Amino acid sequence: MKITAAVTREKGKISFEKVELAEPKANEVLVKMVACGICHTDVAVIEQFLPIEFPYVAGHEGVGVVEKVGSGVAEFAPGDRVALSFPSCGKCCNCQDSRPYACEDNFQMLFGGHYRDHTKRMKGEDGGEIGVMFGQGSFATYTIADQSNTVKIDVDSDEELAMLCSLGCGIQTGAGSVLNRMKPRPGKSLAVFGCGTVGFAGVMGGKIAGCGDIIAVDVAKPRLDMAMELGATHVINGKDEDVVARIMEITSGKGVNFALEASGNPNVTTTMLNSMAREGMAVLVSVTGPGQIPVELERQIMNPSVTLTGAVEGCSNPKVFIPELLKFYKEGRLPVDKLNKFYEFKDIEKALHDFHEAAAIKPILKF
Ligand SMILES: NC(=O)c1ccc[n+]([C@@H]2O[C@H](COP(=O)([O-])OP(=O)(O)OC[C@H]3O[C@@H](n4cnc5c(N)ncnc54)[C@H](O)[C@@H]3O)[C@@H](O)[C@H]2O)c1
Ligand SMILES: [Zn+2]
Ligand SMILES: [Zn+2]
Repeated sequence: MKITAAVTREKGKISFEKVELAEPKANEVLVKMVACGICHTDVAVIEQFLPIEFPYVAGHEGVGVVEKVGSGVAEFAPGDRVALSFPSCGKCCNCQDSRPYACEDNFQMLFGGHYRDHTKRMKGEDGGEIGVMFGQGSFATYTIADQSNTVKIDVDSDEELAMLCSLGCGIQTGAGSVLNRMKPRPGKSLAVFGCGTVGFAGVMGGKIAGCGDIIAVDVAKPRLDMAMELGATHVINGKDEDVVARIMEITSGKGVNFALEASGNPNVTTTMLNSMAREGMAVLVSVTGPGQIPVELERQIMNPSVTLTGAVEGCSNPKVFIPELLKFYKEGRLPVDKLNKFYEFKDIEKALHDFHEAAAIKPILKF
């Protein structure tokens, strides 16, 4: 079938094209897109910080309605509302162990441009194949996804579904880093560095977990105001305050038990490590490319028994975690809708521009 997709054929560029989309294979679903969020990783992909082979369609927070299912799909039926999340190989020991975020083929699955079977589903007008990111490529009017990275979303309208795009990546990453990786006991302190969707999800996750001090750090005042609205107990403006000194002041000189780095700036990891309490856990989720920082092994890590760990997609199994996040949303404990700003698909350049200028926290394209 013919669809319209926002195709990237060179670094930093997007163009609308008529694209031929294949039929879903046995284990796949054809989804009519309702909306797709923009996450910083889309920018990283379009700008080739994560070099996918040209040409490709970005977009990895798609939500939509199942139009058709492959012969082997029992979990979905036409008409189901779904969110698309990150893919995994399904075969390696970690996938078999319900830890798809740790899939041994993770990088290829997310940024290899192809689907689970290492083939592509889109073709341009010149007949050349077009890849996708995250096994979905949701900057398109329709797409194909594997049933394994497709999750049913139990809501009553497409409008409500469009509110929930970010469950597929940004919210899952921030909330999951807290709820699945840190698992803080109630009362423990948490600092979140970088208040985009991922950081805000960390703040909301901290509140759900019952954290005591929840400290949000950003360099933009409006982001800090939003952090307070979402559950932060303290905010620090990294532009004009000494972040480590303020964190030590708030925590009576102890440092924080848990921290999330979601600013995209590698140097912030140094600030995070200098802010940790003994036996603290510092979780890095930023995509930093080849970013490097000096680490003082003895002072920052060994002596205080600090854990520095990375986390992909909030260490979550989307089939389990996204329905949990949806429940929190329905209970009013995860107000992800507060972050959204909607754009028509045709205005994708404006949405990306606003995201870049921090004029939108979670731009969402509507189809
Ligand atoms: N590991 C994963 O699975 C995963 C998943 C999703 C996103 N990501 C990455 O997480 C990061 C956050 O994503 P996002 O979509 O929320 O990004 P975003 O751009 O919306 O948010 C980043 C925030 O960091 C703030 N910031 C920038 N410099 C700062 C500094 N020096 N100190 C404090 N704050 C600073 C910005 O003002 C902004 O509010 C990105 O790098 C993204 O690529 C990783
Ligand atoms: Zn795997
Ligand atoms: Zn993302």
